[in-house]
Amino acid sequence: MKILVTGGTGYIGSHTVVELQQKGFDVLIADDLSNSFPETVDNIADITGIKPLFEKVDLSDRTATRILFEKYSDIVAVIHFAASKAVGESVKKPLLYYRNNLNSLINVLEMMEKKNIPNIVFSSSCTVYGQPDVLPVSETAPLKKAFSPYGNTKKICEDIIDDTVAASDIQAIKLRYFNPIGAHDSALIGEYPQGVPNNLIPYITQTAAGIRQCVSIYGDDYNTPDGTGVRDYIHVVDLAKAHVIAVERMLGGKCKSPSEVFNLGTGRGYSVLEIIKSFEKVNNIKVNYKIVARREGDIEKVWADTSFANKELGWKAERDLDNMMLTSWQWELKRKK
Ligand code: UD1
Repeated sequence: MKILVTGGTGYIGSHTVVELQQKGFDVLIADDLSNSFPETVDNIADITGIKPLFEKVDLSDRTATRILFEKYSDIVAVIHFAASKAVGESVKKPLLYYRNNLNSLINVLEMMEKKNIPNIVFSSSCTVYGQPDVLPVSETAPLKKAFSPYGNTKKICEDIIDDTVAASDIQAIKLRYFNPIGAHDSALIGEYPQGVPNNLIPYITQTAAGIRQCVSIYGDDYNTPDGTGVRDYIHVVDLAKAHVIAVERMLGGKCKSPSEVFNLGTGRGYSVLEIIKSFEKVNNIKVNYKIVARREGDIEKVWADTSFANKELGWKAERDLDNMMLTSWQWELKRKK
């Protein structure tokens, strides 16, 4: 059974391809390599022993998307990761983000309808909740105005999927990720941040590696136990496994409604200071840090209510913070080499 993984050479995509292959699925990756590298396909093959099919395609190009779906007639499900994801860049270049993220989803859904491919798993984000009024936040919480064009594309894409599901035979599972971190145990795949990292973990690993001087902690006056921001960090391998379960749920006809949504987190929050301390302890290395002003657009705290995903998907994040810190560091060291 062939699964099309768009954005399959990216961070979460590549880990998901590995998990799919290890469960016996035949994988076709479509990626425009705008934020990833072709070597990832070989690295996946080194882990699994199977080289996934790969097509370099810009899915925001309607013709190119049509050609892809014409070429492969045996796709049974699509996992759609392909999207631009830099929050700051999206504020500066909103049209680029709307064009890329919305058009690629529309083109994929259009071809799924044409080719009678009824299953899509969509890569969404907890950013759709903004700062929730109630924590932990559950899937039924109201969605808030997005802080960035990137966040807004996730909200709009969820709506596009729901409207398409209502008007077609397509069924969808939307997965709202909390903060994915860590890397594969092999250190053969992981995240490649371009330029100066925006996210906390790559900034910490690059500081520990001597590439950056000091981690700036954005604010210590939040209403949290130590004043720094709190997030629900989840290991990327746990996240990847949830995608395989979602695909199996769809193929097995087990969905309870044609468009389902699940939170993917651990259910527990850690502060920025806790993360830095854990990184230092697990890897026995010092990380320079300083407290600076809050970052515009940041929320104070968020963590997931995972009970629905745990019960319905039979999935639970298994890796702890120590493992997240360890594999993040091993990946940084491997890249340095
Ligand atoms: C960010 C995005 C979110 C996106 C997610 C993807 C913003 C506002 N949000 O989430 O939309 O889905 O990445 O991974 O960009 N921090 C520091 N110093 C740093 C970097 C981060 O103190 O150098 C703090 C932040 O203030 C926050 C925590 O670390 O409290 C996590 O930040 P980050 O890794 O950027 O993720 P989010 O902001 O939660």
